[in-house]
Amino acid sequence: MLATAGSAIGLGNIWKLPYMIGVNGGSAFVIIFIASIIFLAIPLMMTEIMLGRRGQKNPLDAMKSLAKEANVSSLWSWVGGMGMLAGVLILSFYSVVGGWVLSYVLSAVQGVFSNISAEQAANNFNNLLAQPLTLLMWHSIFLLMTMVIVARGVSEGLEKANNILIPLLFAILLVLLGYSMSVGDMSAAFTFMFSPDFSKVTSVAILSALGHAFFTLSLGMGAVMVYGSYLGKNESIGQTTLFIAILDTALGLLTGLAIYALVFANQLEPGAGPGLIFQTLPIALGSMPAGNLFATLFFVLVGFAAWTSSISLIEPAVAWVIENTKLSRIMASIILGLTVWLIGVSVVLSFNEWQDIKIAFGLGIFDSLDKLTSTVMLPLGGLLMAIFAGYLMKKQHIAEELGLHGWAFTFWKVTNTIIAPVAVIIVFLNLLGVFEKLF
Ligand code: PHE
Repeated sequence: MLATAGSAIGLGNIWKLPYMIGVNGGSAFVIIFIASIIFLAIPLMMTEIMLGRRGQKNPLDAMKSLAKEANVSSLWSWVGGMGMLAGVLILSFYSVVGGWVLSYVLSAVQGVFSNISAEQAANNFNNLLAQPLTLLMWHSIFLLMTMVIVARGVSEGLEKANNILIPLLFAILLVLLGYSMSVGDMSAAFTFMFSPDFSKVTSVAILSALGHAFFTLSLGMGAVMVYGSYLGKNESIGQTTLFIAILDTALGLLTGLAIYALVFANQLEPGAGPGLIFQTLPIALGSMPAGNLFATLFFVLVGFAAWTSSISLIEPAVAWVIENTKLSRIMASIILGLTVWLIGVSVVLSFNEWQDIKIAFGLGIFDSLDKLTSTVMLPLGGLLMAIFAGYLMKKQHIAEELGLHGWAFTFWKVTNTIIAPVAVIIVFLNLLGVFEKLF
């Protein structure tokens, strides 16, 4: 359970959710996000853990043996394959952002944030993005930290550390929230995030909110399947899922509040994009008592959370390589690590030298990778897993694994067979414009 929480809690909560709320118009996004967590992510997380515990292998081979058990085509194994690819692609930009966090640890230690103004904070971040070599160095360090753990194949020590570090991250966020309440504009933040205003709902915002529900809980790509395969037979899948989903969502929304209170008090731009936390949090961290110490601790904890998540992004692919080739764990880690690193180089450049290169739909390299994975691959992976578990697996096998009864089982069944597939398909069609033509 701790390992799964370590995978779920990461940059998705602290970095990504807050800026996506701003880019997508605030409360409408938040409300759709929360609904997606409850009606899609929670039931699908149970499904993915269940598939992992029953499959007991890397995602691709797990799906293969489950398909055999259910007497259906072995093509289902490609759900696992697509997931592993998604993990590789996500890690290539996740590691670059993890690098930003590491560079902020150094800045915090050096006292750069002391009494920093909003303008200076923004300049610092923009300067960082403008230096490809510095970004490359931090990306390389972050990825190396990840691959060393994966290559050694022992992440238990890290997982145990979660026991202390996750509560500590939570505590520090509460202090930050309290401080930003006193210096910032909490009521504006609250209205921005929670007032029901559906005028800003666009199909892109809906898909982004739905996609982020998958991203933040590490769903749809096999990470949770790997942890499911370690989960003891007697542990409750339902309780594990609920605990993680609530913790993870709360962490993200609290960070969002702390940030938007600062944004509105300092007349900053809510839609600033991926740099949002790096441009706002230093303002609060730099003005509070013992700010440098606190800022260092904060970025160290965020870096740690990112580290445990990044391990779970690449572990499915590494596991598949060792189980299907003659390569050792170390070799598999080196090859996959280099692949991720190379794609990451293009992400680094997309923030400076290659800023003007557009891949598809006018999106740059970073945005294309992010959108392709979070809004297409993860929801598609989740949809296919829901269909597989909801329609094809034997009832008795599901009952054995899930251990849900009464209304809880009905909720799982209805969400997996109807709500999740219908919601994901409608959102996809809508985005493709097919929906408008039909009606
Ligand atoms: N859930 C992680 C986060 O919020 C990211 C992640 C996505 C990890 C998918 C593993 C798989 O930061």
